[in-house]
Amino acid sequence: MKLIGSYPNTRLRRNRKTEWSRHLVSENSLSSNDLIWPIFLTDGKNQKNQISTMPGVYRYSIDKIEKVVEKALKLKLPLLALFPHTQIVKKDKDGSEALNENNLVCKALKLIKKKFKSDIGIMCDVALDPYTSHGHDGLLKKGYVQNDETVEILVKQALLLAEMGCDVIAPSDMMDGRIGKIRKALDKNNFKLVQILSYAVKYASNFYGPFRDAIGSKKSLKSDKKNYQMNFLNQKEALREVALDINEGADFVIVKPGMPYLDIIKLLSDTFKIPVFAYQVSGEYSLINNGIKKKIISEKAIEESLMSFKRAGASAIVTYFADYIAQRLR
Ligand code: PBG
Repeated sequence: MKLIGSYPNTRLRRNRKTEWSRHLVSENSLSSNDLIWPIFLTDGKNQKNQISTMPGVYRYSIDKIEKVVEKALKLKLPLLALFPHTQIVKKDKDGSEALNENNLVCKALKLIKKKFKSDIGIMCDVALDPYTSHGHDGLLKKGYVQNDETVEILVKQALLLAEMGCDVIAPSDMMDGRIGKIRKALDKNNFKLVQILSYAVKYASNFYGPFRDAIGSKKSLKSDKKNYQMNFLNQKEALREVALDINEGADFVIVKPGMPYLDIIKLLSDTFKIPVFAYQVSGEYSLINNGIKKKIISEKAIEESLMSFKRAGASAIVTYFADYIAQRLR
């Protein structure tokens, strides 16, 4: 870009002088339409349990879910993401609870879709980690997560979720080829309009700790996820992941984590004509939240962080701040 104009004819501070002028020239905006709110589920009745590593985020029992959805509707949040905290006794090495039509996610789905129909969207992770005794997203053999065997189970999990009324199937497992297999199975079973949000670019990150705590997989997980999640040194590989998933039928893709990966969001949104979402993950949430609580930073930092995703080109953001920020934006 060639610069046109120079000081003193040009003073960029003129446009920044008043609030109305700053509004007039602002290049991006944030609204509740852009926010996806993750909700954690737990067994029992009348439960709203604080997650110790994520102050301000709770696990809700199924009987509390109606209230949560009503709040989301009031705040005009378009999409909720459901995550289960599974009791240890229900976990096994194959993650078979994932295919139980009475598991927490299925129960919540049935209830929400019966009461709220399509007034709000519901998205669900496809991956086995909340259900496996070893905490990995797929089947583990000799310390290696098996690809094709895992995909077969993921297809079944996706079909079950679609049957229960899930609007957006979100494979977060990082197995190769699962988007195509899931799309094919959904189409064959008359779920042609169920959307797929691919966690196409998910890095083996150190920012997921509090989430693993929230779903109860932290203690079970003995090793890292580097043989399936992406190496965070890589950018070109992200282009390959997304290109493949577009060909396989993804409706949108997500980059995860968020703030340390703004370069990836920007690259993808400049390269592809597909909506790119950002996931501001649990570790990012806890860091920002802690800074605010200790009065190290202002709570306005939350909006700043979310707007940075918009500026990078994200069309929506999964964030644990969704309810709080939607309230502030009203
Ligand atoms: C697992 C999954 C993870 C997150 C969402 N789905 C964690 C992981 O891969 O270990 C992390 C979300 C967060 O940290 O907020 N399939």
